[in-house]
Amino acid sequence: MKTYRIEDKVFSEVLDAETIREAIRREAARIAVEYADRNPVFIVVLKGAMFFAIDLIREAGIPCSMEVLSAKSYGNAMQSSGEVSLSQVATHVGDRHVIVIEDIVDTGNTLQKILAVLAEHKPASLRVATLLSKPSMHKVKLDLHYCCFEIGPEFLIGYGLDFAEQGRELQSIYALNAALSAEQVG
Ligand code: IMP
Ligand code: MG
Repeated sequence: MKTYRIEDKVFSEVLDAETIREAIRREAARIAVEYADRNPVFIVVLKGAMFFAIDLIREAGIPCSMEVLSAKSYGNAMQSSGEVSLSQVATHVGDRHVIVIEDIVDTGNTLQKILAVLAEHKPASLRVATLLSKPSMHKVKLDLHYCCFEIGPEFLIGYGLDFAEQGRELQSIYALNAALSAEQVG
């Protein structure tokens, strides 16, 4: 099994590059059909969703525009602080069909806040595309219209996801192997 190390933490591969590609193609095809004549605006949530967004938008291949915003809820910790601050809000969404692109929905707090802010700008429609979702961790009910993978509560890195800014460059997705990491520490 492929593993990756960040300091004393050991991560094991759970989704390889081809599996990720296939799931993105599937969701992109749905978007391409449903937004063919809508010229949607994709709102990319920095930094984690950058990699997913680029692949998803190119794969959908329809006329569209793109904005970015950033949200921070983790700092360097592995658990969401529950507090979200949006450093930048896209205001070019009035009367547009908006698709927010997220890397992962954990508690859902980040996304809920982003959706509330965007809704104030009165988009014509508002949907979410996420690479990953952890249903067992959700604290708010959100409609994740395009979702590539539902996964367990494990902490993940790779394909844009980081632990303390490390691991974003990995082509696969890796989960923290708690047992192995504990052994390494001891
Ligand atoms: P939420 O507000 O709890 O849903 O947290 C969402 C944000 O936390 C995501 O946009 C990610 O940036 C980050 N996050 C949540 N789970 C993970 C993970 O397993 N690995 C890396 N980052 C994560
Ligand atoms: Mg994020």
